[in-house]
Amino acid sequence: MSKNSVFKKRRLLLAKYMEPNSTAIISSSPIQIRNNDSAYRYRQCSNFYYLTGFEKPDSVLLIYKDRSNSVAHFFSKQPNKHDSVWSGELLTSRKIQNIYGFDKCGYTENLELELYSYLKKSKSIYHSLSKQSDLMTLVDDCLQKIENNYRKGAELPSNHYSINKIVHKLRLIKSNEEIAIIKKACKISADAHINLMSKCKPNVSEKKLESQLLYDFGSNNATEAYTSIVAGGKNACILHYIDNSSNLKNGDLLLTDAACEFEYYASDITRTIPINGRFTQDQKLIYSLVLKAQKNAISKCIVGNTLQDVHKAAVRTLTKGLIDLGLLRGDYKSIVKNELYKKFYMHNTGHWMGLDVHDPLEYASDGKPVKLKPGMIFTVEPGLYIKADKDVNKRFHNIGIRIEDDILITKNGPDVLTSRAPKEICDIENIMNNIK
Ligand code: GLY
Ligand code: MN
Ligand code: MN
Repeated sequence: MSKNSVFKKRRLLLAKYMEPNSTAIISSSPIQIRNNDSAYRYRQCSNFYYLTGFEKPDSVLLIYKDRSNSVAHFFSKQPNKHDSVWSGELLTSRKIQNIYGFDKCGYTENLELELYSYLKKSKSIYHSLSKQSDLMTLVDDCLQKIENNYRKGAELPSNHYSINKIVHKLRLIKSNEEIAIIKKACKISADAHINLMSKCKPNVSEKKLESQLLYDFGSNNATEAYTSIVAGGKNACILHYIDNSSNLKNGDLLLTDAACEFEYYASDITRTIPINGRFTQDQKLIYSLVLKAQKNAISKCIVGNTLQDVHKAAVRTLTKGLIDLGLLRGDYKSIVKNELYKKFYMHNTGHWMGLDVHDPLEYASDGKPVKLKPGMIFTVEPGLYIKADKDVNKRFHNIGIRIEDDILITKNGPDVLTSRAPKEICDIENIMNNIK
C-alpha cells in the first residue's frame, strides 16, 4: 500500500465516524520558539501527521461530510521567495495533491472563505483547537458571520465535538505498517542500550553516555522519543532525572530510560545495569524482584485483560518481595489496600505508546478499563526506588531500578518488541565484561 493511501484510509475512517453534515478541522503544530528568533526543530502534531503524513507547519485539514460522502480539503502556505531563501522551497498545492492524495488543495489565504462555506452547511463541528489559536479565532469569526445571517435562515452548527476522541480511538489499534515502524524503532533503541552497556564504566559521565545514545539514534535516522534519563546511583531514585550531569561511581547502579523515535513512532526502553559490570548481592536481590514483577506483569498482557490487570500483577509481586526483604512491614492485604508499596513504587506499570511515547489514548471507556486487543502497544515498566531513609536498611540505600519493555498484543499473547535489549543479570554482566 502506498504511503498516501495509508493516510487516505485513515481520513475516510474518521469521516465514517462523523455525523452527516459536519466539518472536521485539524491544524498542524505551531513552530515552537526556543528564544528570541530561534526555533526548536519542527515536529508535526501527531494527530495531524496520522491523518495527512504532511510534515510542515502552517497547514490545515478540513474534512466535510454531507449525507454520506466526504471531501478532504487541505490548505498549506503558498510558496514564496522568503521561505525558499531561509527554510527551503514550499510545495505547490498541485504537487501536494499529487503526493498526499487529498481531494482538494489550496493555500491558507483562502482558508477563511472555504471554512465559512463548509461551516454554513454543517450541523456539527469536530475540532480540538486551543481557544487562543489563530485558527480558533478564524472559526469564531466564521460562526459569527453565520449568526449575523440568521434573518436569512442561516443556522449555527449545534454540536461541537472533540476530534481527538475519534482519532485517538483509531490510533489505539496499530496497523501492520505502524507495527513494522515501531519494531524498527525498538531495534535501534535496543542496540543503543547494548552499546551503552559495553561503554559504561566507573568515572564516565552520564552526559557522555547520553551523547552516545543520541549518536546511535541519529546515525540510524532517528531522534530521541523523549529526553533521556541517564541516572547513576541515587539519581535513579528521582523519577524524571534528566540533568544527566553526574559522574558514574564504582559500585553504583545506572538506570537508563532512553529510546528513539523513528519515522514519527516512539519506542521506550529502560535498563538498569551495574556501573562496574557486576551486581552486588543486595543489588541482585532488588533487581531480581523487579524483573520477576515485570515478567509476571507481561504474562498478563493477553487479549481481554486490561492495563489495570497488568499493573496489579506488578504490584502484587513487588509487595510480596518487599515484605520478604523486610522493606515493608505488615500484612500483605492491608499494604496493597492502603497502597503502602507506593513508598518504593509510585508510578503506573505502563502506558500506551505509538506516535507519542505516552500515546494520549483512552484508558477507560464508559467507565470501564479498556480491554486489550491485538494491535495495541504499550509499555510494562515496574521499578523500585529506595531512597536513603533512616527507616530503610542501609544495604538498600540509593538503589533505583526500572526495567521497561514495549509490548504488542497479539492473539497468541504478548510480543516483547524490545526483547533484544538484555535484562537477565548474567546477560548484562556478560556484555559488560565482554564475555561472548
Ligand atoms: N520514558 C518515559 C516513560 O517511561 O514513561
Ligand atoms: Mn514508559
Ligand atoms: Mn521510559
